[in-house]
Amino acid sequence: MFSDYFDINLKEFNQEFFESLPDNRQIVRPTMTNEKYYHTVYAEGEPAGIVGFVPSENMRDTGFMQILLAPAYRGKGLISKIYDRMIELHSLKTLYATIEKSNTASIRAHEKIGFKILPEEKLEDLRTKGFIQPYEIRMERDV
Ligand SMILES: CC(C)(COP(=O)(O)OP(=O)(O)OC[C@H]1O[C@@H](n2cnc3c(N)ncnc32)[C@H](O)[C@@H]1OP(=O)(O)O)[C@@H](O)C(=O)NCCC(=O)NCCS
Repeated sequence: MFSDYFDINLKEFNQEFFESLPDNRQIVRPTMTNEKYYHTVYAEGEPAGIVGFVPSENMRDTGFMQILLAPAYRGKGLISKIYDRMIELHSLKTLYATIEKSNTASIRAHEKIGFKILPEEKLEDLRTKGFIQPYEIRMERDV
């Protein structure tokens, strides 16, 4: 895997860098209260993307993952190492991802690292309750 060759580090979140990244509407923007769960990702010392999570209100150690890589760093499997760092740093036990159905690269990336799409009846229930939109799916991975 390419990612084995990349030295990945998570540092303080940088709002300006985040705003400069294309596709940033794909992730939930950090708020004042959860900015501490967001980081700028460095690959080989260069800013390469943003990673963070929105903590679950009713389950401990559970995060709704948010990841955005600069285009030059996509398709190299970096997501795997980045999530491993997040799991370690924030002691996450269950990871969720809400992804637009049309975002096949993200669905594929999450599948490759062990995320599973929730069964259709659970997705329907989440849609009925308004937790996800009709055009989204939810994926889950237990650590
Ligand atoms: C989603 C994202 C983080 C995936 O991370 P990644 O480290 O690039 O994931 P992978 O390297 O495993 O690639 C996953 C898939 O992306 C696609 N891909 C490959 N190269 C790519 C490139 N240069 N640009 C975009 N997508 C590419 C492929 O379909 C690949 O699957 P494959 O390896 O089976 O061919 C990254 O694509 C990204 O930042 N996307 C924009 C923001 C976004 O959609 N975030 C997720 C919101 S839920």
